Amino acid sequence: MHDGAVWQFSLNALHAAAWGGSLVVALVVFTRYLPLRKLVVATTVVTLGLVMLGAYVRLTDAGLGCPDWPGCYGHPSPRDIADQDALAKAWKEMGHRYLAGALGILIALSAVLAWITRRAPWLASGILVLVLFQATLGMWTVTMLLKPAIVTAHLMGGMAILALLLWFFLSLYPATRAVPALRPLAVLALVAVAAQIVLGGWVSANYAALACPDLPGCRGVAMPEMDFENAFHVMRELGRTGDGELLPLDALVAIHWTHRMFALVVVAVVGFTAWKAIGQRPVRWLGALLLAALAAQFALGVANVALSLPLPLAAAHNAGAALLLGALVVLNFCVFKGLPSISNRQ
Ligand code: HEM
Repeated sequence: MHDGAVWQFSLNALHAAAWGGSLVVALVVFTRYLPLRKLVVATTVVTLGLVMLGAYVRLTDAGLGCPDWPGCYGHPSPRDIADQDALAKAWKEMGHRYLAGALGILIALSAVLAWITRRAPWLASGILVLVLFQATLGMWTVTMLLKPAIVTAHLMGGMAILALLLWFFLSLYPATRAVPALRPLAVLALVAVAAQIVLGGWVSANYAALACPDLPGCRGVAMPEMDFENAFHVMRELGRTGDGELLPLDALVAIHWTHRMFALVVVAVVGFTAWKAIGQRPVRWLGALLLAALAAQFALGVANVALSLPLPLAAAHNAGAALLLGALVVLNFCVFKGLPSISNRQ
């Protein structure tokens, strides 16, 4: 072998050994000193922040701030962008990607730790697979130019990761006293909120937030002209019908109106569930939290329309959906598995 090649080979082997060794040391230190529960809490908080940051990026029209992926105009961070507005948008988009990268690492570490300590390893691995798929959706969001179906799926993915992380966290504690009587209602309420989140994502991904600018009616009537066929044609470009025509206003109205009407179903189902939960001693506090989250989310939705979608309220409506979903995940855990004793340090 050539002298230079030998030298290059040993240098590469040295690099590999150094990286591999550091990884093993990091893992040992990490499993020794970092409790899984704290890691999962931190991961859940980062996920909530990331979902909200995603809404902020969309609401500030920065979704295509970097038109390529994973870099930004071919660089690891935004640079050589003369226009200040474009530069700001690029940083917002890259901020979302960096935080997503950090979340991916946190989730991978949680999965490693879950396998080492044999606590909910399959669930942790499922979350890891989901976050990889979510990264792919994030890439498609950019490369497919904000196709509504991809943007909505990306929001659903974020909410699903959040919900599963919460379940993962709760499953790390011993649980007692399940509440079987509430199971059907808790599942129904969770399904209703999940469906409403999909419908809400469809509203925002299609920019239909102000298609009905008035309340409680829409465009001055209770039942406006609507085009449901184009509204719920899933695979189409942003602002276009399936045939590539300009998406008619009646389709945007149908999207907005459906989300509003389904909110009434959510209020009935979740409100009834919360009321029943308040009647059950072990989950009384959860019922109250659910009721408060529901009222806040409904009020935020109404305020968003009444005030023409101010940025803080639109971001809060996104966070409100996450809170409502979170409360229902906790309720479902409690009624199926029992109340986790979080104060337990084992
Ligand atoms: C009560 C249960 C509700 C839930 C769980 C819910 C959930 C959501 C979600 C997840 C989004 C997407 C947010 C995003 O992509 O960042 C959304 C968007 C929206 N929702 Fe709701 N919503 C509810 C009620 C309402 C009500 C009652 C109204 C109005 C009367 C409303 C009006 C809107 C509007 C205008 C948007 C678009 C916001 C945007 O473009 O950022 N929502 N909703």
